[in-house]
Amino acid sequence: MNNYSRILSGMRPTGRLHLGHYHGAIKNWISLQYEHECYFMAADIHALTTGYDDTKNIASNIYEMVIDWLACGVDPAQSSIFVQSHVKEHAELHLLLSMITPLSWLERVPTYKDMIEKLAHKEIDTYGFLGYPLLQSADILLYNAKYVPVGEDQVSHVELTREVARRFNYLYGREEGFEEKALATMRKLGAKKASLYEELLVKYQQDGDDEALEKARFLLQDAINLSHGELARLSAFLENKSRVILTEPQALITNTPKLLGLDGQKMSKSYSNTIMLREDLDSTSKKIKVMQTDPARVRRTDSGDPARCPVWQLHKVYSTDEVCKWVVDGCKTAGIGCLDCKAPLIEAINIEQDKFRINAEPFLNDHNMVRNILADGAEKASAVASRTLKEVKQAINLDY
Ligand code: TRP
Ligand code: SF4
Repeated sequence: MNNYSRILSGMRPTGRLHLGHYHGAIKNWISLQYEHECYFMAADIHALTTGYDDTKNIASNIYEMVIDWLACGVDPAQSSIFVQSHVKEHAELHLLLSMITPLSWLERVPTYKDMIEKLAHKEIDTYGFLGYPLLQSADILLYNAKYVPVGEDQVSHVELTREVARRFNYLYGREEGFEEKALATMRKLGAKKASLYEELLVKYQQDGDDEALEKARFLLQDAINLSHGELARLSAFLENKSRVILTEPQALITNTPKLLGLDGQKMSKSYSNTIMLREDLDSTSKKIKVMQTDPARVRRTDSGDPARCPVWQLHKVYSTDEVCKWVVDGCKTAGIGCLDCKAPLIEAINIEQDKFRINAEPFLNDHNMVRNILADGAEKASAVASRTLKEVKQAINLDY
């Protein structure tokens, strides 16, 4: 990974964050911000795609989320922290990209079908919801972000972004002369191969088909009648035919294992199995005390297996090697009870939450501090976004 590359990530403002957000995403943001130019965005327009009918808490949700980011250590001196709707270019680029994005690309994004099924009770068969991942593409491409730290579930959105960028560059980034030269070389492949090559090229560059790239490369390998120079030209034609106006980003998948919730499923607000970053000791401790354990361990005298226990998943994140060993031994031999096992965990989580509570305090007391951070972040983000949008409009010939 190159140093100092640009990074963008975002979250929909759903209010206060839980420990899963910290271990699954924000911890990673914090380490990235010292080595890269980072942009972290509250995706409020994305929140509207499913929450358009209940917007009264959107402002407070943004504040709560941003305060949590700050409490975790996202540093406004290192990163630009901003709200999506404050930077108008997001909406404008989304609109322009929507002109070149085939509907089928959006319909085949796996999260689309999943969500339509999951939210069957709700009217989300909307224009905006189908465009959700394209708006995300606009978020990323505006900053020419090289890396996008996201969870596994968002990888298909980054993939779509790559395809859209490629199509944009193909449509609007072609340089004069180069194409003719390359076409002349292509003819040397012989009529049949040349037309196959051209077909693959279009499939790759215009339709985003990666398999076509592989096939075209393969076809070039077999072209014995071409010189090295000619081969090089065709390869360049294949992969870099156009001027790069929008950068194809890469997903940076957070490699920390997902923090599991109180019931052993992924920790998520929609499963009501979360512990909040700034939840107080009393309530945290109550939640952990009633948390599910190995179902086979019914009585105190039954031995258990940590591998089947959600509590153990939390120990793996929070406890020292020594404590982990004590848990495994004690559980397997019924040497400790589940409440004994949970005590050091409650303590470790509370130590972490204490840090968050202390860090959040000044922001909670003075919302102006947050407002200023967001204003400053929007200003820095706008500077980059407006430059990209200008280039985009020039490329489309919309610069009159
Ligand atoms: N879709 C992301 C999520 O639900 C949030 C998001 C919006 C995002 N725009 C983004 C993430 C751009 C990364 C990059 O978590
Ligand atoms: Fe889970 Fe700990 Fe109980 Fe074993 S002792 S079942 S690891 S809570």
